[in-house]
Amino acid sequence: MGAPESKKCVVLGVTGGIAVYKACVLLRVLQKQGIDVYVIMTKNACRFVAPLTFETLSGHPVAVDTFERPATWEVEHIALAKRADLFLIAPATANILAKMACGIADDMLSTTVLATRAPVMVAPAMNTGMWDNPATQENLAVLTRRGVHVVSPATGHLACGDQGAGKLEDVSVIAARAMEVLSASRKDLSGLRIMVTAGPSREALDPVRYITNRSSGKMGYAIARAAARRGADVTLLTGPVALEAPQGVRVLRFTTTQELYELALAHAGNQDILIQAAAPADYRAQEIAQQKIKKQRGEDFVLRLIENPDVAAALGKDKRAGQVFVGFAAETNDVLEHAQEKLRKKNLDMIVANDVTREGAGFDVDTNIVTFVTQDGIESLPLMSKDEVAERIVSRAVALRAYIVLSAVAYARRTFFAFFGPIRGKKS
Ligand code: PMT
Repeated sequence: MGAPESKKCVVLGVTGGIAVYKACVLLRVLQKQGIDVYVIMTKNACRFVAPLTFETLSGHPVAVDTFERPATWEVEHIALAKRADLFLIAPATANILAKMACGIADDMLSTTVLATRAPVMVAPAMNTGMWDNPATQENLAVLTRRGVHVVSPATGHLACGDQGAGKLEDVSVIAARAMEVLSASRKDLSGLRIMVTAGPSREALDPVRYITNRSSGKMGYAIARAAARRGADVTLLTGPVALEAPQGVRVLRFTTTQELYELALAHAGNQDILIQAAAPADYRAQEIAQQKIKKQRGEDFVLRLIENPDVAAALGKDKRAGQVFVGFAAETNDVLEHAQEKLRKKNLDMIVANDVTREGAGFDVDTNIVTFVTQDGIESLPLMSKDEVAERIVSRAVALRAYIVLSAVAYARRTFFAFFGPIRGKKS
């Protein structure tokens, strides 16, 4: 069975070189971005890392050219060529670059890459002398002219002992470039305005202490990234987190829940979709001490807290027709009941409920286990990377908006004909 429609597929070609082990990490990084990865190895690559490693990591059989070709070989390489949304070869040897430049198809990898119509990216890794050789550089120039994306190697200390260019670029850089190419092909949300909230709030107690929670911002940032990748106009309201701002996203920062409240109210009016993954504190200190609070010499210290505004509920009151508001619920018990109650009370269109007691879900981890709760029902998703969950949330919110807009049009049509239908009937 192929990948589900929302899941992009990368065919990862692995050629022989010491950097083959890094391709295992690259595969994992891509999977964390919600990508389904299929691997093709050359015979030489198998000398460095066994296909079983890639098979286990990818969850798919690894295609290797063994010269003992099964009857299905021809079909298999065409199927992989067609399945790819991106064909990525990393590490790419001088040999595969030369074959690609000349159109040679003499093994599984070179044949499949010749057959694919997907964008192709290569991340070369080789000895400095081989990299600098005019033959390699000319081959690269040919490939670049044909539209092949090249992630040039880094400079550094090479495994062969040389110092210079030829080191496989960092896998995070290769993965980021791959994601850019993948997303460039699907800008289906351009023109849509999406506001995302992320991270915790901090409520000061005195000049050195504050109340906060364990939100890292990872979930909200992943949503902002996913929406921006698909071309949406994204505004991210973020609490204090240690994350890099996603590219192409308008970032507005808050520290306290009150600041989030003011920012959100000022900007929500012209948004189409609002996704509230932030974890704002429900309470703040009634008074913030001007100086550091000192020990009470054996006495209990009583902190009086007052309630913060409920941002989601306030926004829900002013929701315009056609806007879709999604909230989160971080729960430790009776997850669905609490989620349904929040859906209603905050006038939301969907709640993403996470049971934060479950391993791999909720605060600070890179994965999540969520359930979508809407007025029409619930849908539970398995453990996924936050990037993948983000993709699903964005797609769901967009689908909800399409449904709401279409329902409004259908209602307007019914109303129109209810008024004008009889008049037209009299005339005829
Ligand atoms: O940031 P990460 O480490 O990646 O973790 C992700 C997450 C667990 C923080 C995230 O997935 C999540 O569940 N966010 C909501 C956390 C939360 O505050 O839940 P809540 O049940 O208290 O709030 C429900 C909804 O109301 C949320 O959409 C929240 O943004 C909103 N809210 C809450 C309190 C408040 N005063 N105003 C609000 O608008």
